[in-house]
Amino acid sequence: MTVSRRALILGAGAAGLAEALPLRRSYAEPATKEYRIAAKSATVNLTGKGHPDTAVWTYEGTVPGPELRVRQGEPVRITVANKLDEDTTVHWHGIRLPNAMDGVPGLTQKPIRPGDSFVYEFTPPDAGTFWYHPHADTLQQLGRGLAGSLIVEETEPVAVDRDLVWFIGDWRLDDQGQIAGGFGNRMEAGMSGRIGNTVTINGRVRGAVSVKAGERVRLRLINAALARIVGLRFEGHKPVVVAHDGQPCDPYQPEDGRVVLGPAMRADVMLDMTGKPGQTYRVIDDFYNDLSYKLADLAYDPGKPAREPLSEPPPKLPANPLPEPDLAAAERHEIALQGGMMGGMGMMSGGGMMRGMGMMGGDGATWAMNGMAMTGDGQPDMPPLFTIQRGKSCVLAVRNETAWWHPMHLHGHSFRVISRNGKPNPRREWRDTVLVPPRESADLAFVADHPGDWMFHCHVTDHQETGMMGVIRIT
Ligand code: C2O
Ligand code: CU
Repeated sequence: MTVSRRALILGAGAAGLAEALPLRRSYAEPATKEYRIAAKSATVNLTGKGHPDTAVWTYEGTVPGPELRVRQGEPVRITVANKLDEDTTVHWHGIRLPNAMDGVPGLTQKPIRPGDSFVYEFTPPDAGTFWYHPHADTLQQLGRGLAGSLIVEETEPVAVDRDLVWFIGDWRLDDQGQIAGGFGNRMEAGMSGRIGNTVTINGRVRGAVSVKAGERVRLRLINAALARIVGLRFEGHKPVVVAHDGQPCDPYQPEDGRVVLGPAMRADVMLDMTGKPGQTYRVIDDFYNDLSYKLADLAYDPGKPAREPLSEPPPKLPANPLPEPDLAAAERHEIALQGGMMGGMGMMSGGGMMRGMGMMGGDGATWAMNGMAMTGDGQPDMPPLFTIQRGKSCVLAVRNETAWWHPMHLHGHSFRVISRNGKPNPRREWRDTVLVPPRESADLAFVADHPGDWMFHCHVTDHQETGMMGVIRIT
């Protein structure tokens, strides 16, 4: 499925010349990595042997879709064919790329019609853990399975025994094991969004994940849920977080050992297998009070350890070439998150008039930013929240005035979380999605370095689609 451009060129035109022409090792441009992925329906088994198969929407027939592995700084070309019965697009979540490759229908490209395809081309500047998903009818397309991981490898690989991806999906299945309808339920949209009842790792409800005593695993966690926030605890282990949303941070052990990921968020975790051979340790998700469950077991091989436990702590990952915001000169822009239900008591007043865009059939918006609600997945001519000049530094001062959690995502940029609730954030980590708890605030700093119209929205898809979406224009 992955074809290098050179192989294509040689294969297509050079049949008779292959012997005469020596291979040129010093080809001027680096080989472009090529992928072709088709969005199409399929049937898969999510819940294990003895349980019914589930009809899903997929990339290439699998959930998650194919893992795309590319190299930092090397060009990639991905042709997406639409074999669904409705329009789609693909958004390369977290990748800093040209606006025209960002996959927002109406705003950055025309939607891909059924039967058509679209070629995405970009060169990922940053190594790290990213993912891809549709940005059209997102509730349903993501909720039915369209998503996959996009791993950008460091130019110098980091020394670990194994590199594992846990692509976490959340599904709402009915008694027959089929995806329940009712996408876009208004009540739910005004609350936590569509949280499912079946959580998978790499497309399967997991029993055991086999590990060996002594090994160091780089675990790439991706929360691809529509709405579910996870808080993962690795019993008997001490996870060390080395990256958020693909961007390296100073390695640290999270408070109370729990790795919290809102929808769309990722963490790279170094996990030293310090358990005993033959033993089993649980991985628990206990983000929601009283609803904790076992996500998986770490099942230790009973044989002898892979190695003596490592004594040195996990190293810091090599830094990505992110432009450093100039805080003294930064423009500050306030963004108030508004709306939603308050414990089922009705809509919160948005603190101002909600001007709706693209509302249909009197079906009003539920959420807003700065009094303005834009609904759906992206639209042409969205008025920007604000406009900023390319190269300028910017602080987004996000204030959550609602009773709900919001993972806020900025397209095409990573930002430093410089403060929370008015207090400096000592870690100042880079992210592309920040989870803002109810009534709390976060200041996000970044350099506006790619021109275009960039989405800033909540990644609880119901929230995004019912108004918590806006655009930042970089000129
Ligand atoms: Cu992953 Cu606009 O989103
Ligand atoms: Cu939200």
